Amino acid sequence: NQPPWPSYRGYHEYSFAHATMGHRLPTILGKAIDDVVKTLNEQHEEEKIVDLEACIQRMEALMGDLTSKADLRPIVDDGEGDIPLWNKALARYFRGQNFINAPWVFAEAYKYRRLHECFSISKYWQDYDVFFRQKCDTFSRSDKAVFELSMRFHEPFKHREGLSDTEKLEAERLVFHELTQVCLWGNATDLSLLINMSEEDIKKLQSTGGEHLAATEKNILGNHIGRLWEIVRDLRGNTGGRVDFVLDNAGFELYCDCVYADFLIQSGLAKTIHFHGKRFAWFVSDVTRKDWDWLLNMMVYGDLFKNASDAELESLRRLGKRWKQYVAEGKWIYEQHPFWCTGYTFFTLPEEAPDLFLHLSRSDLVLFKGDLNHRKLTYDCHAPASTPFEESIGPMASTAGAPKICSLRTIKSDVVVGLESDEVAENLDKEKPGWKISGEYAVILVSEGRPA
Ligand code: F6P
Ligand code: MG
Repeated sequence: NQPPWPSYRGYHEYSFAHATMGHRLPTILGKAIDDVVKTLNEQHEEEKIVDLEACIQRMEALMGDLTSKADLRPIVDDGEGDIPLWNKALARYFRGQNFINAPWVFAEAYKYRRLHECFSISKYWQDYDVFFRQKCDTFSRSDKAVFELSMRFHEPFKHREGLSDTEKLEAERLVFHELTQVCLWGNATDLSLLINMSEEDIKKLQSTGGEHLAATEKNILGNHIGRLWEIVRDLRGNTGGRVDFVLDNAGFELYCDCVYADFLIQSGLAKTIHFHGKRFAWFVSDVTRKDWDWLLNMMVYGDLFKNASDAELESLRRLGKRWKQYVAEGKWIYEQHPFWCTGYTFFTLPEEAPDLFLHLSRSDLVLFKGDLNHRKLTYDCHAPASTPFEESIGPMASTAGAPKICSLRTIKSDVVVGLESDEVAENLDKEKPGWKISGEYAVILVSEGRPA
């Protein structure tokens, strides 16, 4: 079950794998150590301080392994559900490999699992998230786009008086079209790439206005949004109306995902939404249960945005209350399967996580958000840009029971598939060096799935 193209690896100097493994990951880890030192300085109980000090020492050992290209060792058994998956992969497929010569997506994921291990084997700090401060802080600086959306969408969705059924459907299609793009570009705010971004840069990435969206639509290089609408349109009445989000980043992206999911529920297109998050801190900004709870509670009870008007704050509270109500009613369900925090690509999902595959196969549509999910769907390999999406995701399209899938991804790494021709990518290579990592381009790609 492997594609015919080789995976990207850290020693591929022409790929973003090289800069990531050699430079970005040590920088991210260094900042994580600074975060823990800050927490340590805020403690007063000796036992907790000593315990946290040991976590820092383990992080420093990880830094040593990362920068000396040490072999990937088994993960210490901390009793978590993903341990058998990790240690099987390490023993069976990646034995003797290191951070640089192992496939990039595996080695990068392994680094985040090792980072979690630094805490999971401690006594007091098992759930510590080194990126939590950063995630909250960035959301609190996203006020402009946050209020743009809350002011527009806090009122329950309803049609203007006197519309015919056809006009109603067209009105829904237009909102769907817009919110799909809001949800897509929400993915541009990824903290692992924002290390050097200014306030202005963040604001630019988060523009949600209609004009801005129209201008950026041409940057969606493979665009199945028309087909996506047909799938969603046909949910109503016909099937269970279940949509799944395999989430990516916390904060602003999660907020955009929820605005989108809110519309799907209110319009009656979907009945239930399942959100799939991560069990621990992952690729800097990915959503954990704590981030999910934080967002919803902060919207209702928080006082994050000092310059906001009363109307803006009220709009956010109303949205937050409605979303919490969906959770209480079981319309929105938050889940966290251990498989999402492994180094496996989704080529192995049907085999390595059959329970999860079965669960997803009952969904009417699974939306995969972001760059990492896209890399995992496509095996993170050198596939030609014109490779059809369904071919590029292998078993997730061809296995009996595969659900309908859509990847909503701003392009931040080398693998690009689903374009009309290879020339589109070749021309960008010539004209816009760095286009594959800037997050300025995107894809919306659909796979039709396969009946069980
Ligand atoms: O590929 C570049 C990268 O920064 C990886 O570290 C990671 O796969 C990804 O982008 C993170 O982006 P996202 O949050 O969109 O998955
Ligand atoms: Mg992410």
